[in-house]
Amino acid sequence: MRISDRIEASITAAIEMGQGGIAPGRLASALNYAVTPGGARIRPTILTSVALACGDSRPALTDAAGAALEVIHCASLVHDDLPCFDDADMRRGKAALHLAYSEPLAVLTGDSLIIMGFQILARAAGNDPASAIALIDILGTRTGMPFGICAGQGWESEDQIDLSAYHQAKTGALFIAATQMGAVAAGQDAEPWEELGARIGEAFQVADDLRDALCDEATLGKPAGQDDLHGRPNAVASLGITGAIQRFDDILGGAIASIPACPGEAALAQMVRAYADKLVPAGARNRPTVPGE
Ligand code: IPE
Ligand code: IPE
Ligand code: MG
Ligand code: MG
Repeated sequence: MRISDRIEASITAAIEMGQGGIAPGRLASALNYAVTPGGARIRPTILTSVALACGDSRPALTDAAGAALEVIHCASLVHDDLPCFDDADMRRGKAALHLAYSEPLAVLTGDSLIIMGFQILARAAGNDPASAIALIDILGTRTGMPFGICAGQGWESEDQIDLSAYHQAKTGALFIAATQMGAVAAGQDAEPWEELGARIGEAFQVADDLRDALCDEATLGKPAGQDDLHGRPNAVASLGITGAIQRFDDILGGAIASIPACPGEAALAQMVRAYADKLVPAGARNRPTVPGE
């Protein structure tokens, strides 16, 4: 089965678990709205690619880990769009969930998906509870405080932002979870895979800054120009377009060099490169240089 089919099947199964029994209908429907259609599914794709590079000896655990990671990512987007955070009206090309449903249902959808992420892993433990516990631990570390997305969002309420800690927690954390969970699902140690996840996360953040500055809302499927609007520190403001692209390429080179030795190392490097090409907005590399950039 293709990686994308594995991911969609596993997410669908998880959402159906959350909609079973006598569930409140609007919240059950909102769970589905939050996860489909998906965005790039980049985190579970990296997770599954790392697992495959390590032999993917327990594919059911890999698929559970991918779904767990993606539903938590989707939860973070639902909460992030709420009026009390970014007050965004569009996500993945459609109305933000709090506008399509309501604010209480958006809070509850995010809460339900976060809990679902951990439940998916607990239920996938089977005869390998040690790996499931390790996966739950990694996902918890990269979701909560002090290293996870909660910490990342929390930095936005501080007077002084530690930029590196902010980006690592807000964006990098779930990429570290992706590489480490892929390795653990395939029976490998998590630790050697942290650097690859951190570097991919850093590159992703720079590419996200470029897309935010250069693309329009229709292309992004979400509001554009948000970094400028909210006065957030970002790579384009500090390095210019050309400098940000150079930075992206440098980080990516380091990411590929950091891939730990494993049977599928070459294929994994190819996959990271192919995905990276899609991250930088089309045309950004060939723009005429603007004086002062
Ligand atoms: C958006 O992530 C949130 C950030 C960390 C910038 P993605 O760009 O991966 O969003 P989807 O899942 O593809 O919609
Ligand atoms: C959202 O971050 C990522 C989370 C950790 C929730 P941003 O607010 O920077 O990303 P977009 O632009 O809304 O996707
Ligand atoms: Mg935000
Ligand atoms: Mg946002």
